[in-house]
Amino acid sequence: MTPLSGHWYAVLSSRELGSAPVAKERFGQRLVFWRDTDGHPACLLDLCPHRGAALSLGEVVNGAIACPYHGFQFAPDGRCLRVPAEGEDWTIPDQFSARAMPVRESQAFIWLWRGPAVPHDALPAVPRQPGVGDLVHEECVQRWPAHYTRCMEGVLDHSHLPFVHRKTLGRRMQDPTTRIRVDDTEGGFRANLLQADGVRHHVDCTYPNIWTQLLVDGYAMSATFAPVDDSHTKVYCRVHHRFDWALLRPLMRLWCRVSNWLVFHEDQAVLDSQRPRSADDAAHEKLVPSDAAVLAFRKLRAKHRAELSAQPGVVKV
Ligand code: FES
Ligand SMILES: [Fe+2]
Repeated sequence: MTPLSGHWYAVLSSRELGSAPVAKERFGQRLVFWRDTDGHPACLLDLCPHRGAALSLGEVVNGAIACPYHGFQFAPDGRCLRVPAEGEDWTIPDQFSARAMPVRESQAFIWLWRGPAVPHDALPAVPRQPGVGDLVHEECVQRWPAHYTRCMEGVLDHSHLPFVHRKTLGRRMQDPTTRIRVDDTEGGFRANLLQADGVRHHVDCTYPNIWTQLLVDGYAMSATFAPVDDSHTKVYCRVHHRFDWALLRPLMRLWCRVSNWLVFHEDQAVLDSQRPRSADDAAHEKLVPSDAAVLAFRKLRAKHRAELSAQPGVVKV
């Protein structure tokens, strides 16, 4: 885990970010993303410090973003570079900066840093999603009506399968008894489903917001939960595979869409019904041994939040 008291969150798929500004709500904040002249991702609070217009309605000019209202331009680090109405000789005060958010691109995601403000090159590496590094993937996007902590817990939770997914994944589960062993990993933990003769399968939590299940060598599914607000999450569902052939990719894409829709739409009513909305407020809940993976996630959350709250300039996570 990172030595700093913050974390990188995968919040956007790389394919969503082209040359034009993109507006997204994440962690309850309006953000604008774009690519600079080198193609690197940039992100600012989507709020012009001049008079509050959404920067995302503007355009990218030489790698900076220009506000649509009076044309102020902002660099990826938030510095105000130009105030057209004051002419080129006017000295722009430092406090005219927009609020920059550290972002990186890796594994076909844009990652957003949530933690103490430190120089960009002092930030840790983004975590690696296990088991999928040499695979291609197809992707579909869903919006779930729940806080992302509840979504993560939902996919880490094996014992709900014979109930919520009784017509799909849990169809053949005659015995609902569940035994889980949790092992720490470099980026989070692995939850192993145990049966009498050993581990039946496992799922990985890449903390804080990626779930991966390697089904067989060369074939995996994953879900990445981008926090939108307290009751909504954007879910990037991926099928990872080796079939990088032009004719097969559309079929795999269709399979990704259908399989994820079939399974995940069954979860949504229960997730939407959970109170409190965030698992962070649910310490009173009565967990049982088969909730071991949920408990492991909550422990990481509690540690993460305690470390963050000890820092100046606490950020919402
Ligand atoms: S509100 Fe953005 S330049 Fe005026
Ligand atoms: Fe489920």
